[in-house]
Amino acid sequence: MFSEVSLISFEMCLPIEEHALTVMTWRNDPTTLSMSFHRGPKLWETFWPEFQETYFLNPPELHPVFALLEGRRIGFLKFNPVPHPLGLPRLTVDISINIAPAFRAKGLGRKVIAASLEHLRTRGVGSVFAEVLAHNEASIKSFTAVGFMPIGTSDKLNPDTRETDHVHQFVAELAAGVGGADGGSSRDAKT
Ligand SMILES: CC(C)(COP(=O)(O)OP(=O)(O)OC[C@H]1O[C@@H](n2cnc3c(N)ncnc32)[C@H](O)[C@@H]1OP(=O)(O)O)[C@@H](O)C(=O)NCCC(=O)NCCS
Repeated sequence: MFSEVSLISFEMCLPIEEHALTVMTWRNDPTTLSMSFHRGPKLWETFWPEFQETYFLNPPELHPVFALLEGRRIGFLKFNPVPHPLGLPRLTVDISINIAPAFRAKGLGRKVIAASLEHLRTRGVGSVFAEVLAHNEASIKSFTAVGFMPIGTSDKLNPDTRETDHVHQFVAELAAGVGGADGGSSRDAKT
C-alpha cells in the first residue's frame, strides 16, 4: 500500500477566498450533499464567513488540507478533536473527507484516507474517528479498506430534514510516533 499512498501529498488549506471557493464547490456537489448530515447547499455570502471563522480554530497541525495527486488538488479533509469513542486517553480526531467529484470512484478515496492517517500520526494523533451515513457505501468501503474498525451504529435526528439518519461509526488506531501527543502510551492502550 505504501507505494500507492506515497503518490498522495497534502497542501495546507488557508483562509483565503480561492480555497473557500474550491471547498464550497465540492461541498455543493449533489452526491456530497446527499451523503452529508447538513444537506442544504452552501451559499457564498454565508459560507465565506463560516469558512474563515470556523475552519481554522484548531491548532495549525490539525488545520484542514487539500489532498494532492501529482500536485493536483483531488480532495479536501477536515479534522476535529473529539473524545475517543471508547474512552481511550489519546488525541483523537474526527475526520471528514470529500474527494473532488471528477476524481471519485477511481480508487483514490482509500489512498487519500490512508495517507491522511500518516499525516495525522506524525502530528501526534493517536486515533481517528469517522461517522458515515449508512447508505454511503463508497465511504464505508474506503474507511474499512484502510483499517478502520466498525465500533457501532447510531440513529441521529437530523435537524435539517427532521428524519432519522442511520450512522455507522469507525475508529482507526494509529501506531504511536516518536514524540506523539500521547507519549507512546497508545501502544499499551490498544485493544
Ligand atoms: C466517499 C469517498 C471519499 C470515496 O472515495 P472514492 O475515491 O470515490 O472511492 P474509491 O474509488 O476508493 O472506492 C471505494 C469503494 O467504494 C466503491 N464505490 C465507489 N463509488 C461508489 C458508489 N457511488 N456507490 C457504491 N460504491 C462505490 C468502489 O467500487 C470501491 O469498492 P471496493 O472496495 O469493493 O473496490 C468519495 O466518493 C467522496 O468524497 N464522496 C462524497 C463525499 C462523501 O461521501 N464523503 C464521506 C462522508 S463520511
